[in-house]
Amino acid sequence: MKGILLAGGSGTRLHPLTHAVSKQLLPVYDKPMVYYPLSVLMLAGIRDILLISSPRHLDMFQALLGDGSRIGLALSYAEQQDDGGIAEAFTVGADHIGDDSVTLILGDNVFHGPGFSTLLHEQLRNVEGAVLFGYRVTDPERYGVAETDIHGRLLSIEEKPACPRSDLAVTGLYAYSNDVVDIAKNLRPSARGELEITDVNRVYLHQGRARLTVLGRGFAWLDTGTYDSLLQASSYVQLLEKRQGTRIACLEEIAFRMGFISRAECHELGLGLAQTSYGRYLMEIAEGPVKAT
Ligand code: G1P
Repeated sequence: MKGILLAGGSGTRLHPLTHAVSKQLLPVYDKPMVYYPLSVLMLAGIRDILLISSPRHLDMFQALLGDGSRIGLALSYAEQQDDGGIAEAFTVGADHIGDDSVTLILGDNVFHGPGFSTLLHEQLRNVEGAVLFGYRVTDPERYGVAETDIHGRLLSIEEKPACPRSDLAVTGLYAYSNDVVDIAKNLRPSARGELEITDVNRVYLHQGRARLTVLGRGFAWLDTGTYDSLLQASSYVQLLEKRQGTRIACLEEIAFRMGFISRAECHELGLGLAQTSYGRYLMEIAEGPVKAT
């Protein structure tokens, strides 16, 4: 299974915050936003990851994450123009995907919940078709919206419908079998000129090869698309981290707990940031017993 992290888009809805900086590099409390989706791929055990962003911003992602080797990843980078659309990730990333299946996560999607790593491992094992994740929201018209029958089987998916058929948003985490590359190659741009991920999902739906897992009420799928929701996401992370003394989406910790790096390497990474509470946390993790996340 390969990973793609899509951190593109012009971020116009958050100007002037994103006038000079990529949205996905803005802080969510104590770390850049991109750490959160990257942590999801890592929790799924995916280590070979392509990060796609616009030519303006790619250097900054490379400066932040490098080749990924210090946290046990193989990170590569590719460019996409701002208005290509999400589904273009599969044509831009065709060589990276090769003969494998692929999980795509959007760089502004923040997930947090109990047992997420286990759920990801279950759902992403032997992917055949499309695996989607749904989440109930009060403003479904802002998202892809899924309609299901009483057994949870998918009936329809619509992109930002004016009159949503349900309150079930399709989140920005998707897993596909290898034929997603061909499907993306054959897509036509939508009315707004983009290759839509919802159109990819509809191809699988019509083939009877799409399934949706609903992330339940104990789960957080946070919005980062408005000034207020961005601040709320930071407050959520701050609250849980302060209350529990643990860190959410701490890439070095996840790398250690997943066995991507050794205890000594984790300690070394902490030492490099010893002047921060983040660095001291890493050293404590490396010195302590290995416990479940
Ligand atoms: C995109 C997708 C949408 C999905 C959302 C999740 O919307 O087009 O289907 O629900 O991501 O974050 P966008 O964020 O590009 O408006």
